[in-house]
Amino acid sequence: MKKLSRQFAISDIHGCAKTFKKLVKDVIKLSRKDTLFLLGDYINKGPDSKGVIDFIFELQKDGYSLNCLRGNHEQYLIDGLQYSWEEIAFLSRGGLETLDSFRAKTIHDIPSKYLEFIKGLPYYIELENYLLIHAGLNFDLEDPYKDDFSMLNIRNMEVDLNKTGKRQIIHGHVPTAYQNIEDSLDFLNNHVSIDSGCVYRHIHALNHLVALDIRDRKLYIQRNIDYEMNTLKLVKGDITKLHVDVVVNAANNGLRGGGGVDGAIHRAGGPAIMEACKKIGGCPTGAAVITTGGNLPAKKVIHTVGPIWNGGNNQENTLLENAYKNSLALAVENGLKSIAFPNISTGVYGFPKELAAKIAVETVLEFQKNQESEIEVTFVCFDEENFMIYKQVLGE
Ligand code: APR
Repeated sequence: MKKLSRQFAISDIHGCAKTFKKLVKDVIKLSRKDTLFLLGDYINKGPDSKGVIDFIFELQKDGYSLNCLRGNHEQYLIDGLQYSWEEIAFLSRGGLETLDSFRAKTIHDIPSKYLEFIKGLPYYIELENYLLIHAGLNFDLEDPYKDDFSMLNIRNMEVDLNKTGKRQIIHGHVPTAYQNIEDSLDFLNNHVSIDSGCVYRHIHALNHLVALDIRDRKLYIQRNIDYEMNTLKLVKGDITKLHVDVVVNAANNGLRGGGGVDGAIHRAGGPAIMEACKKIGGCPTGAAVITTGGNLPAKKVIHTVGPIWNGGNNQENTLLENAYKNSLALAVENGLKSIAFPNISTGVYGFPKELAAKIAVETVLEFQKNQESEIEVTFVCFDEENFMIYKQVLGE
């Protein structure tokens, strides 16, 4: 059956990049035939304003149809670029978080491609039956389109359809519980706010991002997931004793078993693990495969092969990074929520321990940052030396 093109509107993302991505990719499942209208306030308050704009750029690059409007928070940034006292106002309205996301000290340090994007945002878009705008229009004026400030800031309005060419207004800016948005989709007041207060994580009724299917007047809802912590833990001990969803084994290319952590896992898990390994046959360096956990408390074992240290100029760093990355990806793919890693390659394979710990921690943090689903990661250090190194790298 031919899939019809749809039109969606989303507003007030406020730096909640993970929630935004999830809503677009998994909830509405945006297709290239659809059009997505974003009604402003991409930045400020939330943790990852840069990530929100990066995702917009990514969608545009990948051929999705997007129309982005300006919000009052983008305006604060534009004003701050011009006047230093406005920069202070910007920072006090959640702009500090925006700077953090860019690792910028002042707004002038934000890379120009983002600033140009923000400066180029229009105030409104007219569709056949709807006017899309961040806040609304000042209908007290003869010509409400002359009042830019109200377009970005107005909170109460009585829509005069004669001044909008009979268009009803879809806007953001006014945080509204999504149940109330749903109730107001009959547009009794000729306007509807689709800002469900995504960034207000402490207010139970808000804390959601919604997408309105404009033609069907149907609301798609995603709870805010940006503040859910992906935890990182450090323990000293034997990985075979851990009650986690999956433990990682530092295996060899032939999955033949061995000494070190490999030997310990096969001993404690029993022959079912080796049987499964034999069926798989092997695993290239940096890749990962999954088997049963046998008699281990963990449900599964992911076998990955770290690089043998050979001086450092033979892709060792990248291969070790891949071993962590591919293990994590495989765990997520299998719906596993907690994973424990040994210090891969730092035993028989001779990888320098400090460098290995740095690569392990950075790779895991980067993965967790980009991952929409949660996964709890535990680093298990068997020897005291690695434990002390990890403590230092993790800043504990
Ligand atoms: N729990 C957690 N960590 C352990 C355990 C255990 N029970 N036993 C050993 N370790 C730690 C070691 O202290 C080391 O820091 O695992 C780390 C990795 O060491 P190795 O097991 O030697 O793994 P690696 O350096 O990646 O070498 C892999 O060794 O056993 C063989 O078949 C394996 O050929 C492969 C090679």
